[in-house]
Amino acid sequence: MILIGFMGSGKTTIADALGERMDLPVIDLDEEVVKLAGREIPRIFEEEGEAGFREKEFEALSRTSRTSGIIATGGGVVTYGRSYDFLKNTEQPVIYLHADFETLYRRIEGDENRPLVKSRDQVKALYEGRIEKYRAVADHEMDASLQVNEVVSGILEIKS
Ligand code: S3P
Repeated sequence: MILIGFMGSGKTTIADALGERMDLPVIDLDEEVVKLAGREIPRIFEEEGEAGFREKEFEALSRTSRTSGIIATGGGVVTYGRSYDFLKNTEQPVIYLHADFETLYRRIEGDENRPLVKSRDQVKALYEGRIEKYRAVADHEMDASLQVNEVVSGILEIKS
C-alpha cells in the first residue's frame, strides 16, 4: 500500500500506525532518500536542487516494488514524471490523504526540514497545483483532517 498526499497530511504517522495494525514493515521514502544520499533533505536541495532530490526519490520509490510493506511517500512525489507514472501503474493500492489547505499549513508552517515550505502563498500554489495529480494516481481518497485512529480505521475498511 502506498500513501500519498501533501506535506502535513500525516502520511508517515498513518503508515506507522497501519504497519503496526497490519503487522507489515513501513518504508518512509524521505528516510530512504536520506540514506541513499547520505545527507539530510535540505542539503540535497541545496547541493543538487529539487531535480536531484526528485531523481533520488524516484529511485527509492521504484525499489519499493519489491516490498509488501506500507510506503509513505514525500508530498511532491507526484510532480516528477517518472514517479507519477510509477504510481499510476503500480499494482499496489494508492491512498490519497486529503485535507484542506489551512489544516495542512498549520501543521507544516515554519518547518525548516521541509525546504519547499517558504511563504504561505508559495505553499498554497503547490497545494493547488498538486491536488489533481494526487487524485489522478490514487485508488482511494481519505479525509486526513480526522484523528489518526479514524483515518487508520477508514483505510482498514477499504482493505477488507
Ligand atoms: C516535499 C515533501 C517532503 C519531502 C521534501 C519535498 C514536497 O515530504 O519529500 O521536503 O515537495 O512536498 P513530506 O510530505 O513527508 O513532508
